[in-house]
Amino acid sequence: MSHTKVTENTPPQAELDAFRELQRLAYQAAGDVAAGLEPGVTEREAARRIRVHLEAHGVQDWFHTPFAWFGDRTAFRGFRAPPQYFPTRRALEEGMPFILDCAPVRDGCVADIGYSGYLGDNPLHDRLMDDLRAHRRLIVERVRAGDTLQDVYRAVDALIRDQGYDNRHRVYPGRVIAHRVGRVRSRLPRAVVAGFGIRSLQTLVGDLVVERAHHRSPLWADGDVSAHPATPGMWAVEPHIGFRDIGVKFEEILVVTGDDAYWLDDDLPHVRRWDGPPALIGAVRARVPADTPLFTERFAPAPIVGGAPFEVRLGHDGPVLSVPAGETALEAVRRVRPETPYSCRQGFCGTCRVRLLAGVPDHRDRPTGGSPRGEGFALCVSRAREGERLVVDL
Ligand code: FES
Repeated sequence: MSHTKVTENTPPQAELDAFRELQRLAYQAAGDVAAGLEPGVTEREAARRIRVHLEAHGVQDWFHTPFAWFGDRTAFRGFRAPPQYFPTRRALEEGMPFILDCAPVRDGCVADIGYSGYLGDNPLHDRLMDDLRAHRRLIVERVRAGDTLQDVYRAVDALIRDQGYDNRHRVYPGRVIAHRVGRVRSRLPRAVVAGFGIRSLQTLVGDLVVERAHHRSPLWADGDVSAHPATPGMWAVEPHIGFRDIGVKFEEILVVTGDDAYWLDDDLPHVRRWDGPPALIGAVRARVPADTPLFTERFAPAPIVGGAPFEVRLGHDGPVLSVPAGETALEAVRRVRPETPYSCRQGFCGTCRVRLLAGVPDHRDRPTGGSPRGEGFALCVSRAREGERLVVDL
């Protein structure tokens, strides 16, 4: 183990902010697409939806274009050749795990994220995700302590074995668990070859040449070239664990400074799952008698589950608004009618309710006794089937 502290190239705050914003956008895209997945959607279609979402939000280039892996492909079983990583025509089925992975570039910043989920019910997937949490903590603690990247990799490997799983990131090219990210520096025209942006690749190759001269590598694996502490800067880290035909991972940026290391952002889906309100409420429930009533209150909109795109028309002659899978009708309406009132955004209070004039609604509100639904449609949570058009009295 080495405790050498490095003191150069700590990213400036503005740089970190820009990378964090893009990373959040990438997770938002993956989360929105995940929420709209249903049986029959193929890996290619899921990857296409992520790409469309990100390009609509200013993404101009890619480190790599979106990947989607369904079923046993989440564990990379039998993966040997690069073409196997690319999205296929495999269709999603009920209970199947999936991983969505994308690496967009916007204004020279890079994000590289991995989003794990499943359709319907999959308790084994939940267990793997819960166990993945320890890896996030282990990695940052060991890097902060100045361990070599090779040692951290081996510690992750040992933890995976202790948990009864197997290491799936060793199936990535170069067996890497992480790679350096930084501003894309290239004058090449924007182009994607075999799923990778040539400007990003040129930047990575430049880093490889510079780092090799110092007997280091911007690729973090378990070989001797990783027998050095993390160099300051940003690393996209992706521990990937597998059990039988299920693989789960996260991927996010670890910031390394001269004397510290920390995750760039804690407001990410997998971190909220582990450390956010649901985890806290679960821990409280587990510690009180089963018949103890617990009152909880949210201060943010409820997550959209199983949303599909539909349309809302404002009045019989008004504009038709598209409501994407990851957005509420309230958000779509407030873009053109910003004065539209709301309060709880969870379907309780009735403030956002409007009269439904036509269409078949999917009511998701939970009206309280003093505020019955009647003919009302709660814009904040209620939806419609895919492609359906609702007409509301606005
Ligand atoms: S804002 Fe409360 S029900 Fe919609």
